[in-house]
Amino acid sequence: MSSHPSPDDENIIDIKDFSFLDQTLRPSRFDDYIGQETIKKNLKILLQAAKERAHPPEHVLFYGPPGLGKTTLAHLIANEMGCQVKSTSGPAIEKVGDLASILTNLSPGDVLFIDEIHRLNKIIEEVLYPAMESGVLDIIIGKGPSARTIQLDLPPFTMIAATTRVALISSPLRSRFSGGTFRLEFYTEDEIEKIVKRSAGILGIALSDDAAREIARRSRATPRTANYLLKRARDFAQVHKGDLSLKFVADALALLEIDEIGLTALDRKILEVIIEKFGGGPVGLSTIAAALSEEVATIEEVNEPYLMQLGLLERTPRGRVATPRAYEHLGFDMPEDRQERLL
Ligand SMILES: Nc1ncnc2c1ncn2[C@@H]1O[C@H](COP(=O)(O)OP(=O)(O)OP(=O)(O)O)[C@@H](O)[C@H]1O
Ligand SMILES: [Mg+2]
Repeated sequence: MSSHPSPDDENIIDIKDFSFLDQTLRPSRFDDYIGQETIKKNLKILLQAAKERAHPPEHVLFYGPPGLGKTTLAHLIANEMGCQVKSTSGPAIEKVGDLASILTNLSPGDVLFIDEIHRLNKIIEEVLYPAMESGVLDIIIGKGPSARTIQLDLPPFTMIAATTRVALISSPLRSRFSGGTFRLEFYTEDEIEKIVKRSAGILGIALSDDAAREIARRSRATPRTANYLLKRARDFAQVHKGDLSLKFVADALALLEIDEIGLTALDRKILEVIIEKFGGGPVGLSTIAAALSEEVATIEEVNEPYLMQLGLLERTPRGRVATPRAYEHLGFDMPEDRQERLL
């Protein structure tokens, strides 16, 4: 687990960093899982049909930006089916032997959860195909001309995979998620407000309605961020010996450098760099990352989806472009030749 962010760090809002909150607040039943209605409807049918056939549900893939509830859904499915989850991740499976041992140790009906599936090595991916499709494991014994393949039958299982980068998943792998591939959407403000109130209830935090609303408005439409902001605002109220009111939310968010539409310092820096250094774009992602000394993957997976959701950033074939809304939000004048530069 990574260390808790401290208010003195620059760009402290790395939402991957506060997964320490996930365990306590993770809903384990459909009724507590707020939003993502289409996905829930589909999954309920999948699970009900599987139960009626007395067979594990077919394999499913969840994708979307971090903190939207992919891991939560995997655990929820297992809970609803009354079965166990074995969790691993793409980068953790280094050798074919690692995968073979995971698969052969499954009990009938288990959920195998593979996080960051896009980081699975190609050779291992090929071993996974027959396991997913026909429930068998092909093992090669020996080397050279005397090598032979033996086939092991696996217990029936459900594979659930999650990724923030679905484009990196090969089409043969994608096609084996016969139970469905689901894209998680950003949440509405109303949904996030419900999540904040639910979390406040679990954590025993008294919270005014307008404070809950304010957290919802500024949490990047993302449950994990909402839970994180709730806790930070609670700390703030506690230190100042007051109830968690709108004022403490505003003060806590100001200290965290989160602005009124939920942008973090890094979100704003990305837009500023595009506008100030590259005339509003188009500019390549790696150039932006280099200018900010940030990782390409962080910008692409964490920051860009929300900036695009708000219509502040566009991805074009020639690179990233700051939209008129971005100029307006950050208080920059738009250059007269902006349209021509985009042609
Ligand atoms: N629909 C929801 N209703 C209520 N709480 C939710 C919901 N989705 C997510 N959460 C909360 O947000 C936290 C983060 O969700 P989760 O860990 O499932 O995200 P993720 O999509 O797997 O993120 P990552 O890509 O970083 O692994 C959960 O622990 C839970 O507290
Ligand atoms: Mg996850």
